[in-house]
Amino acid sequence: MSKMKAVIPAAGLGTRFLPATKAMPKEMLPVVDKPAIQYVVEEAVSAGIDDILVIIGRNKNAISDHFDSVPELEVRLQQKGDHGRLERVMKSSDLADIHFVRQGEPKGLGHAVLRARTHVGDSSFAVLLGDDLIDERDPLLTEMIAAHERTGAAVIALMQVPAESIHLYGVAATDGDDADGAVRVTGLVEKPSAGDAPSDLAVIGRYVLPPAVFEVLERTQPGKGGEIQLTDALQELATDPDGPGVVGVVFRGRRYDTGDRVDYIKAIVQLAVDRDDLGADLRPWLKDFAGGL
Ligand code: G1P
Repeated sequence: MSKMKAVIPAAGLGTRFLPATKAMPKEMLPVVDKPAIQYVVEEAVSAGIDDILVIIGRNKNAISDHFDSVPELEVRLQQKGDHGRLERVMKSSDLADIHFVRQGEPKGLGHAVLRARTHVGDSSFAVLLGDDLIDERDPLLTEMIAAHERTGAAVIALMQVPAESIHLYGVAATDGDDADGAVRVTGLVEKPSAGDAPSDLAVIGRYVLPPAVFEVLERTQPGKGGEIQLTDALQELATDPDGPGVVGVVFRGRRYDTGDRVDYIKAIVQLAVDRDDLGADLRPWLKDFAGGL
């Protein structure tokens, strides 16, 4: 099992989902029947990671409660003989060694990642953003860890996105192709307009980073939106002639965005139709429903 730790920033305000996120973190919104953050934790565990640090903000106690055991509930399900649900309830508390640290003031993704410095120490680590869910059949993070071990570079996940969405992402300038599984990244821009974007390759929320990124983040000034941007720190690593640089793993698999309401609804439908226990009921209903639109 890899020694790498994972960091999950979960301190965002979730304003796009208000009022659902007034008292509950957006990471706890259910995607079918699991909170979004559990998919992300399971993805890290599948890549061999068993130590996870969640960066939390205000109102985030529900996240730590979710990954804790609930003895009363477990006893009740045991007594009822409901072993399926018991297993699912216990799974979330048995997944990994999960730690929490508060971000304090929300000053941006770069600032959130910097809060992991003490826990991570002088080792490479993975960062997983909860708005992007990667299908469990597509082992993106495993490929990224392998690319990091091969190159020593910071590794980002890239995905082609249409021009009208490019302004929502960090965007990479690249050199060459990804024939050996990774492409050299020569520059990065946070949320450019379509006209200014260096390519159609967007940074999706998976990173495997060397500890050197912490030193860069310490001095990274607020950028886009007045926030300390991880993208800006990576731009510095990508253009440092003396370092191992940044490479991108181009992802062509299944990704579900839960960052805004329409994408969130699509993610739930896509995941539910694929489920053995729900798909058979849902598919014919969906066809019928769509036919009536
Ligand atoms: C963050 C990053 C951005 C990246 C995106 C992926 O933005 O700053 O570079 O492309 O995640 O989801 P956010 O979506 O948090 O605004």
